[in-house]
Amino acid sequence: MKMHTVVEKAQLQRKDRNHSVEDAVLIGHGGYVAPIPFLWDDILISTSLQKNVLLKGPSGSGKTKLAESISEFYHQPMHSINCSVDLDAEALLGFKTLVQENGQTVIDFVEGPVIQAMRKGHILYIDEINMAKPETLPILHSVLDHRRMLTNPYTGEVLQAHEDFTVIAAINEGYIGTSPLNEALKNRFISFSIPYLKGDPLRDLFVREFPEASSPLIHTMLNLSEDYFIQVQNGLLSEEAASIRSLLDATELAQYIDPLRAIQYAIAEKLEDDSEKELVIELAKTWLK
Ligand SMILES: Nc1ncnc2c1ncn2[C@@H]1O[C@H](COP(=O)(O)OP(=O)(O)OP(=O)(O)O)[C@@H](O)[C@H]1O
Ligand SMILES: [Mg+2]
Repeated sequence: MKMHTVVEKAQLQRKDRNHSVEDAVLIGHGGYVAPIPFLWDDILISTSLQKNVLLKGPSGSGKTKLAESISEFYHQPMHSINCSVDLDAEALLGFKTLVQENGQTVIDFVEGPVIQAMRKGHILYIDEINMAKPETLPILHSVLDHRRMLTNPYTGEVLQAHEDFTVIAAINEGYIGTSPLNEALKNRFISFSIPYLKGDPLRDLFVREFPEASSPLIHTMLNLSEDYFIQVQNGLLSEEAASIRSLLDATELAQYIDPLRAIQYAIAEKLEDDSEKELVIELAKTWLK
């Protein structure tokens, strides 16, 4: 499909920039395979239009891989923040410190990820944004709306974001320990559901990831993945039983050890419920006979 001109223009502009060696290390490695044809293009159009993007999906659905692929696409360094209840303003913005300069002690400000990404026009990846305490993130409200600016509370400096500055956030909805995203924060994002891969796109990913694997093994794992999907829909398995991360891990191990044990370690053992563990193994046995 032809790339939209807004995306082409943004890509040319961003790719054309030079980055220091330190920053270039932060450019991601691509490889995300889209589960639905227009998803990748729609996300690129949103980021080209300076929209903040929220990726909503279960564990191992490729949210981080997608963000890295966007970083690669624009050849744009990406700073990551992992949210937790301990996340505070300093972890986002930075902190003051004392440094020696020509024999004198002076105060210096060490820039955190938000300030660096805004100033340098990089990508800011905010992972598990719903794990942060609700009172921490409002600091970012002015950064995330049309103002694209921030008054640094530690220095008093007013910072206007670089035109390439891009925000991508990820959430795993309903996960233990998460709080519902505050409305004003959620309102500042364009939201995309990121489902687990299946069907032809999953086959494409397998062919690429496991060029050495036997075709019966690939066939088995793809069929098994479909079975797990059906049982998730039937309510007999938790969603994570169909995680692409787990499926890829199981397939990789299965090239070296008994596939049933590989499935046990990579998929079954992660499920809470004993009946779910059993079902995962029973379904695997039907394909591995
Ligand atoms: N659609 C996809 N395209 C390419 N790789 C994928 C895809 N989905 C999952 N993967 C692979 O599965 C693994 C997990 O992906 P990733 O870490 O991006 O998941 P995630 O959604 O960020 O999970 P979590 O919520 O646990 O952080 C990676 O190895 C990734 O390459
Ligand atoms: Mg992730």
